[in-house]
Amino acid sequence: MNERTKLVQIGVGAWGRNLLRNFSLLPDVEVVGLCDKSEETREGLKKQFPALPVTADYRKLLDNLEVDAVVIATPPAHHYKIAKEALSLGKDVFVEKPMTLAISEAEELVRLAEGSRRILMVGHIMEYHPAVVRMREYIEGGELGDIYYVYSTRVNLGKVRDVENALWSFAPHDISMIIYLLREKPAAVSATGAAYLRKGIEDVSFITLFFDSGTIAHIHTSWLDPHKVRRLTIVGSKKMAVLDDVEPQEKIRIYDKGVNLQQAYDTYGEYLSLRTGDILIPAVKVQEPLKIECQEFIKAVRSRIPPITDGKDGLAVLRVLRAADKSMKENGTPHKC
Ligand SMILES: NC(=O)c1ccc[n+]([C@@H]2O[C@H](COP(=O)([O-])OP(=O)(O)OC[C@H]3O[C@@H](n4cnc5c(N)ncnc54)[C@H](O)[C@@H]3O)[C@@H](O)[C@H]2O)c1
Repeated sequence: MNERTKLVQIGVGAWGRNLLRNFSLLPDVEVVGLCDKSEETREGLKKQFPALPVTADYRKLLDNLEVDAVVIATPPAHHYKIAKEALSLGKDVFVEKPMTLAISEAEELVRLAEGSRRILMVGHIMEYHPAVVRMREYIEGGELGDIYYVYSTRVNLGKVRDVENALWSFAPHDISMIIYLLREKPAAVSATGAAYLRKGIEDVSFITLFFDSGTIAHIHTSWLDPHKVRRLTIVGSKKMAVLDDVEPQEKIRIYDKGVNLQQAYDTYGEYLSLRTGDILIPAVKVQEPLKIECQEFIKAVRSRIPPITDGKDGLAVLRVLRAADKSMKENGTPHKC
């Protein structure tokens, strides 16, 4: 192990730039090479990092025996091939979401990482979000009671992708967050969606997750919407909670609202009474989730302890995406995950 983790990054596009910024700022990391297929991007990187090798061929970076860790932020169709080569050459790997496109590919990466004792981490950023972590503490502390249902909205008027649809592009965030919060994987999923702008690439998706515990979760994703919304609502038997990620400070609100079952003294029957109490806005430390995610990868590389968003977590999310994709093609027929 090098004194500082020697890291290379493959894919430095819109999101990759953010990863690079964060990794470059970590004190125990030395970025030793960059790769991008686009000549324009490479020219920009060479100006910004004149001392670094910048290449179009990622193999040149992987062949460097000095390299400890590889960050992959290419479009998802390239994740599997690059991650497989990097793991095979003994590198630790951070791969953006979705981990791969096929379940068999993700299973192979998990096997490969386990067999060679390499770190394989997937960029499920919401699991590092301080407000999401706090929300799980509320759920686990019993504050909300039994979780009845959850719904998440991730919509805006934004980048229209030409390969992956709004399900594959956005829903990994919500699926990983909901599995993390509930500590339960969905048993089945039903999804519908529609493509308006480009043939065969759904701009909007509506996904319902069914859990064996009885909880249901709904996810709405779209890049064709008048509002920018990043909101998760959790309805529990005791209280209700909202996580609004567009809010700069007050990201969580816990509502002491619910419905109580009361004895009716006059009829000896039962009736339901509404309860509307206080609203709690807990203080959540404002920290960039991406910075925490990057730190966790380096911590895993240096400690050899797998991160929470390891390959198995990536695989769990992929199973849901695949089942949702099948369901969407069949107008919502439920599929097991
Ligand atoms: N965690 C998040 O919040 C978040 C947000 C946006 C995107 N992402 C993920 O990040 C990844 C990249 O998304 P993006 O928005 O930056 O896409 P992008 O298209 O802007 O960038 C991808 C870059 O990869 C390069 N590239 C493509 N194939 C390559 C190859 N074989 N070798 C080297 N470079 C290659 C392209 O030239 C491009 O510069 C995707 O997996 C996406 O899902 C994550």
